[in-house]
Amino acid sequence: MGSDEPGAAAAIRPAPQDMRAVLGHFCTGIAVITGHDGRKPLGFTCQSVTSVSLDPPYVSFCPAVSSTSWPMIRSTGRMCINVLAAGQEAVCAQFARRSDDKFAGVDWSPAGNGAPRIHGALASIEADLEFEHGAGDHTIVVAHVTALKAHSGRPLLFYRGGYGGFADRPVEPVNDAAAAT
Ligand SMILES: Cc1cc2nc3c(=O)[nH]c(=O)nc-3n(C[C@H](O)[C@H](O)[C@H](O)COP(=O)(O)O)c2cc1C
Repeated sequence: MGSDEPGAAAAIRPAPQDMRAVLGHFCTGIAVITGHDGRKPLGFTCQSVTSVSLDPPYVSFCPAVSSTSWPMIRSTGRMCINVLAAGQEAVCAQFARRSDDKFAGVDWSPAGNGAPRIHGALASIEADLEFEHGAGDHTIVVAHVTALKAHSGRPLLFYRGGYGGFADRPVEPVNDAAAAT
C-alpha cells in the first residue's frame, strides 16, 4: 500500500488512461473558471464543476496540480465560473491551452467581483475561495457563491472526449435568476 494513499483502495490502481476512458462516460457540462489579478484576465477550461451545498451556497471544481492559471486565480481569492453554451467549443479550446493571451478575441466584461464574465455563456457564478483539499494530481476547491445569473440557451456538453448537446430539447426561457450576498 502506498504510504501517501490511505485505505485499501491504494492496493487497486487502474491505469490513468482507463480512468480517463471510463470516467469519460459521465457526461458533464463545461465551464471556464476566470479571475483577474489586477493586471490581466485569467482563465482555464474546467469540466469538474459540481454543486455542493445550497445553504451555505458552495460549489466545487478540481484544478490539476499542473494548472498555471489556478495558482494566480487562487491568490486573488475570487473567481467566476462561466458555464459554456452550445457553440462555444472554440472558447472551450482556447482556455484549455496554456497561453499568455487566452482572452484574445473573447468578449468579456468584469463581473461584480471583478472576475471576467464571458459573453454568451449560459450562466455565470461568482464565488470566493472557501477552502482547498489536495487530491492526488488535482486539488478539490470549494468556493462560496456570492452572486449568480443564468440565461436561456442550450449547454455545451462533454462526453467521452468529444463535444455534444441536446438536439431535441427546446430552449426554455430563463427568468434571469440573480442573487447576491
Ligand atoms: C473539456 C475540457 C475539460 C477540462 N477540465 C479540466 C478540469 O476539470 N480541471 C483541470 O485542471 N483542467 C481541465 N481541463 C484542462 C485545462 O483546461 C488545461 O490543462 C489548461 O490548459 C490549463 O491551463 P492553465 O495552465 O492556464 O491552467 C479541461 C480541458 C477540456 C478541453
